[in-house]
Amino acid sequence: MKGRVLNVFDLPIFNNRSGYRAGIEDYLFEKMNRLSLEGIVSQEILKNSVKSNLKHATYYQPITCRNLKLILDKAIKTKIPFDCFIDIGSGKGKACFYAAQTLKCKKFIGIEFSLSLVKAANKNKAIFGNRNISFLNEDAATYTLPEAKCLIFLYNPFNDIILEKFVANNYGHFKRHASIIAYAYDVHRETLLLNGFRTLFRAADRKLSLYQFKTPKPLS
Ligand SMILES: C[S@@+](CC[C@H](N)C(=O)[O-])C[C@H]1O[C@@H](n2cnc3c(N)ncnc32)[C@H](O)[C@@H]1O
Repeated sequence: MKGRVLNVFDLPIFNNRSGYRAGIEDYLFEKMNRLSLEGIVSQEILKNSVKSNLKHATYYQPITCRNLKLILDKAIKTKIPFDCFIDIGSGKGKACFYAAQTLKCKKFIGIEFSLSLVKAANKNKAIFGNRNISFLNEDAATYTLPEAKCLIFLYNPFNDIILEKFVANNYGHFKRHASIIAYAYDVHRETLLLNGFRTLFRAADRKLSLYQFKTPKPLS
């Protein structure tokens, strides 16, 4: 429009978000790394490339750099030497790409049940570079965590039913390893607390939190 100053927040990539609002740093992260991350992929579109558990899923939208930075900083402060960063519901791969620039893990893994989103993430990876990143087309409800210290990231991918299944499937892992769950837009955090996890950190205003499994004390 003539005479109107362009506001970056009017750009289409910033529209139609729920939960977190993207900022200029998200625009720059995408442009500087030549990635394609923004936009919403609704359940309706996801159904073309998802075989199961769609009714329990949210939809695709990328995490914001601002929230990712805070939760990764807090995870680093635990001083746990994480071997693996795992994004459960990785979409187009933003959290893995950001973590690969921030953390000293040996592996960065994205788990995503939509085949078309895994393809989009792999297209991004071809531009970003391999950097020990892999995207797997799997359902979180049946995914088994690797035998390693993991930082497991979730950005509100699904409801409490799938969260409970994911945790129950991986109880053995959480008992054996000092892994941590980093949960963004943590609307189902109660499920973790009811299933043996304790809160290590929480920013209530941003719905961002960190959890670790409470190791049972040996009987004396
Ligand atoms: C809010 S997006 C987060 C994307 C990415 N983690 C990020 O932060 O940029 C949630 C993602 O979880 C995926 N998802 C939902 N249910 C899933 C399931 N059962 N297994 C694997 N991925 C799932 C969706 O397809 C979507 O891409």
